[in-house]
Amino acid sequence: MSTLETILKYFLQNKNHWLSGEDLSRELKISRAAINKHISKLREKGFEINSAPRKGYYFADSSDSLLPEIIQDGLKTQILGQKQILVFKETDSTNIQAKMLAVQNAEEGTLVITEQQTTGRGRRGRFWHSVPGKSLSFSVILRPELSPAMAPQITLMIAVALTETLIEQTALPIEIKWPNDLLIHGRKLAGILTEISTEMDSIDYLVAGIGLNINLLEEDVPEPLKQIITSLQIEKKMTFSRVNMLKSFLVTLEKYYLELQSQGFENISALWKKHSNIIGKHVSVSLHKQELSGTIDDIDLDGSLLLKDHSGKIHRIFSGDIQITDSPAH
Ligand code: BTN
Repeated sequence: MSTLETILKYFLQNKNHWLSGEDLSRELKISRAAINKHISKLREKGFEINSAPRKGYYFADSSDSLLPEIIQDGLKTQILGQKQILVFKETDSTNIQAKMLAVQNAEEGTLVITEQQTTGRGRRGRFWHSVPGKSLSFSVILRPELSPAMAPQITLMIAVALTETLIEQTALPIEIKWPNDLLIHGRKLAGILTEISTEMDSIDYLVAGIGLNINLLEEDVPEPLKQIITSLQIEKKMTFSRVNMLKSFLVTLEKYYLELQSQGFENISALWKKHSNIIGKHVSVSLHKQELSGTIDDIDLDGSLLLKDHSGKIHRIFSGDIQITDSPAH
């Protein structure tokens, strides 16, 4: 462990109280001058460390700073977030950056996070709106041992993991809109964009990009989106720690990710159905070239939706935009 890491580890274990330079120097067996030098380096990295004569140093609870060391501090995963974590103040899109890393053989579990995206993207080429300091925008590289045909299961599994995390942390009535939008009272809280690179019969990598509206206030939401998007803060009237939310999500995601590969889709599919608002509903679906309507019967084991049209014919839907219609579709 480098001297910098040693000092940081000590601060993380002694958050929110004053530590005298003398004590630090004695405990860590590092000279006062070296401590000063390394504290400047930590501040440059973005850590909030106050100092005062006769009191020493105070490491503020940086729990909401998106810094690799803060994210990894006490992170209870084996894979996700345990290797490389790349943090940007601004980038084009964390999915683009993660795909570039994946091509360069970045390990499974590599995380890319940013405060701001210049070309944040949603499904079907849509723009993704985020607010620095208040949103969580990140991508995780996965290398699942599943056949490419099963990739939709992973997308649904991620939606389950995110929903379960958020319900556990906030008790809000969050619903999944197929395939992977998270809604509260019909307004969008989070979106997931999975992108995949495959060989003939295996997945090379999958990038799971997640955008989550955490501490956005009503005034942070541009006028045209006011009826469309929401945030945890808007719904719950309180602030949430982005880092804690990210850490909880990574733990849950890893649990379901390992379960999917070892035990299959059955339990995850049941959880998805429990959280989704779609089974048994009348819907219309806009696909690339056609509009379909009917009743959603089920999701299949490959992650596709099964839509029964008015003639009883079952259509398998892998992607598209779904609207729930009140009356039976004709
Ligand atoms: C959707 O709702 O259609 C999906 C939105 C996904 C947004 C996230 S933010 C982090 C990652 N980077 C992107 O450019 N998109 C995803």
